[in-house]
Amino acid sequence: MVFKLNNQLLSRMAIGDGHGENSSYFDGWKAYDSDPYHHQNNPDGVIQMGLAENQLCFDKVEEWLKKNPAASICTPEGVAGFKDVAIFQDYHGLPQFRNAVAKFMGKVRGDRVSFDPDRIVMAGGATGAHETVAFCLADPGEALLVPTPYYPGFDRDLRWRTGVQLVPIECDSANNFKLRMEDLEAAYEMAKLNNIRVKGLLLTNPSNPLGTILDGDTLRNIAAFTNENNIHLICDEIYSATVFGKPDYVSIAEIVDEDRKSGRNGLNLDLIHIVYSLSKDMGFPGLRVGIVYSYNDVVVSCARKMSSFGLVSAQTQHMIGSMLSDAEFVEEFLGANRARLAERHGAFTGGLGRVGIRCLRSSNAGLFVWMDLRRLLKEQSVEAETALWRVIINEVKLNVSPGSSFHCSEPGWFRVCFANMDDETMEVALGRIRAFVAKHKEAMKPARKLCAQSSLKLSFSGRIYDEFIMSPRSPIPQSPLVRART
Ligand SMILES: Cc1ncc(COP(=O)(O)O)c(C=O)c1O
Repeated sequence: MVFKLNNQLLSRMAIGDGHGENSSYFDGWKAYDSDPYHHQNNPDGVIQMGLAENQLCFDKVEEWLKKNPAASICTPEGVAGFKDVAIFQDYHGLPQFRNAVAKFMGKVRGDRVSFDPDRIVMAGGATGAHETVAFCLADPGEALLVPTPYYPGFDRDLRWRTGVQLVPIECDSANNFKLRMEDLEAAYEMAKLNNIRVKGLLLTNPSNPLGTILDGDTLRNIAAFTNENNIHLICDEIYSATVFGKPDYVSIAEIVDEDRKSGRNGLNLDLIHIVYSLSKDMGFPGLRVGIVYSYNDVVVSCARKMSSFGLVSAQTQHMIGSMLSDAEFVEEFLGANRARLAERHGAFTGGLGRVGIRCLRSSNAGLFVWMDLRRLLKEQSVEAETALWRVIINEVKLNVSPGSSFHCSEPGWFRVCFANMDDETMEVALGRIRAFVAKHKEAMKPARKLCAQSSLKLSFSGRIYDEFIMSPRSPIPQSPLVRART
């Protein structure tokens, strides 16, 4: 009855499912929320490994905050600045904030490239930044190409309120899920055949969920492709400071710079945009610092006007401006961040390896591993993957995220986050995995039988995702999406 009434009273958006919360990606949160692990109070509870959060360097941040009390306007040392920060701030952002973020973005990329503070536009996290970019680049019904597997939040961020569509480009394990030019071309041509107007390509580099980076040549070829076809290239680079191993990271900003410096000027920079945030690199998702960095003046201007809907609070700008202006702190933080991520990644993948579980080999970035459990599937299907995932949540008591929720076309892959917990919790998680594998050893298939099985892949050709089509739907009593922004 209530639903019927709402059907007549509310907008289609309000009563629709475009937010994507009814996905298995968020189902695991329900299990975690109702039984969260605590080493003393609830040692048999569910361990949260579905949260791509970076909690490994908070000691460095706390130390800095203690040494710099004036960075906060709520301390005796900083309160003199309270009024200036609390009164009206326009959508351009505090100059110190924009300068410091631009410098930080350069630092993260080894100072090989610099960013113009006048192109830094604020948004409510990368979530808000993506939506702003989608609003600027495409009209309802138009589409962006996205390689799979991809971050499930894109379905909400880029599509829900904008009416923009996402067209997947299937990648598979045969070449470590790397985007192949022929697959990009085929997806583009197929979309055109289906009368879909493709306005751009969205890349996540480093990738969530793969934890891999794109090499310079691939990035150059992709930029050449989008350029030739006069479509936009949006690069989500929010994991750029999480690259903890070789090869070195290459940002699209470096490809732009290279093109400019060579004098070729072959790239139309009006087509290139970067989405950034401090949610992963600094581990501050709660502060909602998102950035649109576009080389297109009209996009910068429009995004800035739109940023009124998702400004970073001036209090946060003030604090971040001060923190990121401290070159010594930034240098030390970035170094510690990489070293600790490398160590944690090594410890976790080493522990998995000892019980015969492999992760994607080429991973050298991110806050997660892309774990290969195909050997444990009863059959190579999404249903079998979902069944295994339910066992992992309910019996092993680990909240990991199934590949299908990332639109992965090959069943049996799971994203497991490792940077949102302490060493002891990670050891408990590894212990549970060890016990689980020991119990199911007999059922494990030999590794050699597994290769990318194209005949088993779901076919997406020419089809646009309609909501989270591969996910089992289940009602979620409270909205985990509010907390699960990863
Ligand atoms: C690839 C990617 N883009 C965007 C976001 C959203 O980030 P934010 O917390 O800055 O909104 C996430 C969060 O997990 C992500 O993984």
